[in-house]
Amino acid sequence: MFSYRHAFHAANHADVLKHVIYTGILDHYLQKETGFTVVDTHAGAGLYDLEHDWSQQSGECVDGLDRILEADKAPNLVEAYLDAVAELNPDGLARYYPGSPWLAVSKLRKQDSFHGFELHPNEYPLLQHNLQLIRTPAKRRVHVHAEDGFKEVIRLMPPHTRRGIVIIDPSYEAKTDYKKVFDTLSEILKRFAQCCIVIWYPVVQREEVRSLQRRLEQLPVEWLHASLNVKAPQKDGFGLHGSGMFIINPPWGLTKELPQTMKWLTKTLAQDGQASFSCRHKEAKPVRRAKRDEDE
Ligand SMILES: C[S@@+](CC[C@H](N)C(=O)[O-])C[C@H]1O[C@@H](n2cnc3c(N)ncnc32)[C@H](O)[C@@H]1O
Repeated sequence: MFSYRHAFHAANHADVLKHVIYTGILDHYLQKETGFTVVDTHAGAGLYDLEHDWSQQSGECVDGLDRILEADKAPNLVEAYLDAVAELNPDGLARYYPGSPWLAVSKLRKQDSFHGFELHPNEYPLLQHNLQLIRTPAKRRVHVHAEDGFKEVIRLMPPHTRRGIVIIDPSYEAKTDYKKVFDTLSEILKRFAQCCIVIWYPVVQREEVRSLQRRLEQLPVEWLHASLNVKAPQKDGFGLHGSGMFIINPPWGLTKELPQTMKWLTKTLAQDGQASFSCRHKEAKPVRRAKRDEDE
């Protein structure tokens, strides 16, 4: 169960898609004074050294972050993500890479809270250590747990802040993760219908992926769904040729900006002529939308 280490994949094309969108969501939530709670169900180590042997061995950031750094005229959402990377690398060399918990905790204010879950016995102490490096006014409200994020997130719902983001980003090593993602978000929505839920998934040739995509798009809520293929699938079915982000109750500003950003990301991350993206949005019913605007 614990063979997955995110350090091999940090800053690859899938991390770029996930972290660009996630940064945009966090920035939107920061626009209002009211505090919010972030729950990261699968946190990883929080911070990655791209010069570490594992990153160097996989070389995945070459077709991810490196391409973004070399490109021109990035859209605003990408610029905000690059700012977060640059903050960690004042010498401009992009050696250290922020994982999802770092992106969130480094932005929190004293009225905001964070819960990160990480089950791996080696990743958890790294997460604890890394988040302590961040000087944040929310320090007392940053909690990390060596527990099952799928189960424990439900116990935190609804958060006392009544504004919240949950990011669900498992490794999908186990096929059962696909079902657990759907079951978990369904339980969250029962307890906290206004929650912004962010789901990452890999685009691989598996029935479980198609089934998750179908079930997500049938949800009776407002959603935004972006997926990006950087190349044609390999004939042997191996390798990650794309990934997707499904956002329930997306911030309005993100919905507006994402199509152009996806176009730019696809052009920048394309590894062959079959790179493509899709960006679909299902609107909320007007009544719920008004309620959400108050809650966000
Ligand atoms: C894809 S990585 C997370 C990357 C991180 N979200 C980021 O963007 O920087 C998935 C992590 O989930 C951890 N994990 C696996 N099952 C878990 C569970 N049930 N609860 C919490 N963490 C789990 C793995 O050990 C791994 O570190």
